[in-house]
Amino acid sequence: MDQMSLPEPILKLDNVSYQYSNKYQSVDAVKEVNTDFHEGKMYAIIGKSGSGKSTLLSLMAGLTLPTEGQVIYRGTPTDEVNLDAYRRQNVTVVYQSFNLFPLMTCLENVCFPLELLGKSPKEAAVVAREQIAHVNLPESVYKRFPSMISGGEKQRVAIARALASGAKVILADEPTGNLDVANGEKIVDLLWHLAHDDNYLVIVVTHDLGITRVADEVMQMSDGYLKPLLLDELPAIDALELNEQA
Ligand SMILES: Nc1ncnc2c1ncn2[C@@H]1O[C@H](COP(=O)(O)OP(=O)(O)OP(=O)(O)O)[C@@H](O)[C@H]1O
Ligand SMILES: [Mg+2]
Repeated sequence: MDQMSLPEPILKLDNVSYQYSNKYQSVDAVKEVNTDFHEGKMYAIIGKSGSGKSTLLSLMAGLTLPTEGQVIYRGTPTDEVNLDAYRRQNVTVVYQSFNLFPLMTCLENVCFPLELLGKSPKEAAVVAREQIAHVNLPESVYKRFPSMISGGEKQRVAIARALASGAKVILADEPTGNLDVANGEKIVDLLWHLAHDDNYLVIVVTHDLGITRVADEVMQMSDGYLKPLLLDELPAIDALELNEQA
């Protein structure tokens, strides 16, 4: 597609690098990454274990600031915003292990970000119910605790909670990693529809070839560098490259 015709990216990485350092060693985990991410699209980021995928996601999530360069959300760099507010309202993260609060019911889990944003419990419950319906879960999950539902359902609750924050950027780190193939496919389908029907920006870090097949753009992280993969290069990706753990 003609780059000139694209609208402003919702998220832009401008020469982003990140170094972990302590008194013993330093690791250059992300190196000089320049990329634009647009609403209404689903991106897949693949790469070997240790290549920097989760670190890149945490920079976009505002969990930490780049050592060099800038993560720019709707024109404003994350080093110029209140990161707590950014994390509450603008971006949301979905994890492989769901990270639901075990002592809250599913409905309470989804209400949680809404209450953080100042909604009354009653207002929060209204929106939470809508979001639970949005991820195709029945009302019967409202009062159940996460331990009482399946993995696929847990990931749906986690996505409903992510949507409840109102953020338009969904960052997902191996969202299908703990699911069987059928449930994984349903989660991928849900994320795809959130991008294409509801205009979210969805960025998925994954080893799952099924995701790379449906993503609008696939990028590969390699030793801290991020490069776009052309769709016709995809069949050539060695399955080992996706599955290798070390
Ligand atoms: N807290 C940390 N302190 C020091 N180095 C770290 C830390 N977290 C990650 N690293 C290093 O940074 C590099 C990138 O790690 P990262 O977790 O981003 O990789 P990844 O691509 O997400 O891997 P995986 O597929 O295994 O999840 C690795 O070399 C890793 O060892
Ligand atoms: Mg990781």
